[in-house]
This record gives sequence, structure tokens and C-alpha cells, in this order.
Amino acid sequence: MKFGKKRDGGMKKKPSRYSGDNGTIVRVFRIEDYDAVVALWRRTEGVGLNESDTRPAIAAYLRRTPRFSFVAEKNGRVVGAVLCGHDGRRGYLHHLAVAGRHRQRGIGRQLVNACLAKLRLAGIQKCNIFIFADNTAGMKFWKRAGWKLRTELRVMQIRLEDWHGAGNDCPC
Ligand SMILES: CC(C)(COP(=O)(O)OP(=O)(O)OC[C@H]1O[C@@H](n2cnc3c(N)ncnc32)[C@H](O)[C@@H]1OP(=O)(O)O)[C@@H](O)C(=O)NCCC(=O)NCCS
Repeated sequence: MKFGKKRDGGMKKKPSRYSGDNGTIVRVFRIEDYDAVVALWRRTEGVGLNESDTRPAIAAYLRRTPRFSFVAEKNGRVVGAVLCGHDGRRGYLHHLAVAGRHRQRGIGRQLVNACLAKLRLAGIQKCNIFIFADNTAGMKFWKRAGWKLRTELRVMQIRLEDWHGAGNDCPC
């Protein structure tokens, strides 16, 4: 589906949902979807939940980059979800999941494409994901979609509660 100028010069309205020929609708992830999405994430291998996945944390995430995260819905039920955001430089996808019996029908690709389209519209040039090193099935999905493994990079992280700096270390 393409968006852009109509022949009469007016702008076409961007739809907030996309239908696939697998009978699934991909639409914006709203906080009202939280319970269904967390239930899906909890039963999905390869998705690790933590303190950033509480309802308030997800609500804050969705507010920070509104309309970048998506769910897939079939017959009114959530069958897939993905979080997407960016920091103005790189895009990030988290927790992509499709319910077991709905896999291999293009839903995962639809969710990722919705995110990448939004990121591109926002002027973001590269998107990263974090994937558990033992998630070989997930890795095949990403590679199939053209994603490259950056073998020269490792993720490093610090928990801010373990960081012993002080508020007055910030020059702002
Ligand atoms: C990874 C996941 C989201 C894929 O969802 P999906 O809806 O089954 O994927 P799609 O049907 O859109 O697949 C797109 C393509 O990838 C391929 N693919 C999907 N899963 C694959 C797998 N496990 N192995 C090999 N190829 C795979 C499909 O065959 C399809 O190929 P095509 O281009 O020839 O049509 C789903 O398997 C899942 O939820 N896995 C567990 C959670 C997970 O690992 N998430 C990623 C965390 S980083």
C-alpha cells in the first residue's frame, strides 16, 4: 500500500491498520492491549520479560514513540505484537512475538514491516534488535528478512541502580 499525494493534490489519509491476506489485521499497539500482549509474551520462547515490561513502563514506552508499536489481531484476538521505538538515531524493535499456531503465515513479517515503515518515515536509517544468542529459530526469521548479524559488536549494559554516580554529576 502506498501513501502520498492524491491526484487532486490532497494528502491521502494514512490508515491506522493494515490487512494481510492471512486474515490478520496489524494495528497500533494501545495500552488497552497490554494484558493480551503480556499473556502472549509470557508464553513465547525467546522473549524475556523484566521490570521494563510492567503496565506503567509499557504505557510510558508507547507514549514516548506513539504509533510505532503494533499488534496483529485475528478475529478480535491478539496473535502477534512488537514494540518499536527510536532515539532519533537508531530504531529498536523488542519482543516480536507471533502465537505458535499463527506462525509461518507472514504475520511476523507484517509486524516488522509496519515498524520499519514508521522508522523510515521518521528519518531513521538503521534499526537494531537484541536477540538471545541461543534463539536460532528467531535468527533464521531475521536473516530471511535481510537482517545482518553484527559479529564485531557486543552489547554492554549497566543498571543505573548499581551506578554510584550522583545527580550533580549531570552538567545539565
Ligand atoms: C520469529 C517469529 C516472530 C516469526 O513469526 P512468523 O509470523 O512465523 O514469521 P513469518 O511467517 O512472517 O515469516 C517470514 C519469513 O521468515 C521465515 N521464517 C519464519 N520463522 C522461521 C524459522 N523459525 N525458521 C526459518 N524460517 C523462518 C518464513 O518461512 C518466511 O519466509 P518466506 O520469506 O519464504 O515467506 C515467531 O516465530 C516467534 O514469535 N518466535 C518466538 C519469538 C521470537 O523468537 N521472537 C524474536 C525475538 S528477537
